[in-house]
Amino acid sequence: MKLQGTADPQFRSDVLSGLRGPRRAIPARWFYDARGSELFDDITRLPEYYPTRTETALLESSSSSLATLIRPGAAVIEFGAGSATKTPLLLEAIAPSAYVPIDISGDYLRMSADVLQSRFPSLKVIPVEADFTGWVELPADLGAAERLGFFPGSTIGNFVPRSSVDLLRHMRTILGEGAKLLIGFDRIKPDNVLIPAYDDAAGVTAAFNLNLLNRINRELDGDIPVDAFVHDVRWNDMQSRIEMHLRCTRDIRFSVAGEAFAMHAGDSIHTENSHKYDLRGLRLLLRAGSWTPIADFSDSNDWFTLVLAEAAPLFAAP
Ligand code: AVI
Repeated sequence: MKLQGTADPQFRSDVLSGLRGPRRAIPARWFYDARGSELFDDITRLPEYYPTRTETALLESSSSSLATLIRPGAAVIEFGAGSATKTPLLLEAIAPSAYVPIDISGDYLRMSADVLQSRFPSLKVIPVEADFTGWVELPADLGAAERLGFFPGSTIGNFVPRSSVDLLRHMRTILGEGAKLLIGFDRIKPDNVLIPAYDDAAGVTAAFNLNLLNRINRELDGDIPVDAFVHDVRWNDMQSRIEMHLRCTRDIRFSVAGEAFAMHAGDSIHTENSHKYDLRGLRLLLRAGSWTPIADFSDSNDWFTLVLAEAAPLFAAP
């Protein structure tokens, strides 16, 4: 149990301002407490959730092309702690000299870095505990090795386009001139594939969404009646994104961190966006973020795309 005084102050202010409305919304990053991370792991194995297995298969099928496009001895900088399946596929494909995972959650980061180090004993594994949306100093001992940023999972889709562009530019600044970026994008596809991926039959994604309310109650001394809410998934075609909401099914009153709130039946809290792209849209997004696409790899259904891009010159003709 976490006492209210020890809760993350950013969590507290995001939740309180997000509940004040009139458009209630809480940033998706707060899904990932210990239970939320476990549930997300379960999501990645669901039959309906195609992104993880599709991207993994793409990493396998593109390995020989990646080996020709990225010089051996590169330093791989992963934005996130790395997955036990996807990261080794990349490391095996390109034979890098160093691997630098960057993650805000120190314990999880060190644990997964240890697992990788034992799998690749001669690789320099240097975990960096930091929030990669802020400034990150890369380890000095990477030397002149070519830098390859790795941002898999279509996590870029969880940012609204304006923030995605900011993040891509920020990655360009961290990685520097001459760097490359390998990044996963989820593609636009029919609703009958997209909706079940975020509203699975076993109810795992619903539990993941509703767990946010449990976290608020536990960490911010809330008394939200969780049973008054249902998981609600919508495809927003105008903004090309899946949206997750928590919809209230009856009129309720509750308090969080000493502040009182009221919601009516039908009101909802917007908890996540997952943007989907077509090929030209994602290329343009990368270019807006100062990366020039040089190769892309898609599955036969065009459900997912891995793009290799290089840092765009800072001064270029219009
Ligand atoms: C982490 N992110 C890429 C996932 C997605 O597909 O947008 C998060 C997720 N939310 C519900 N299911 C998966």
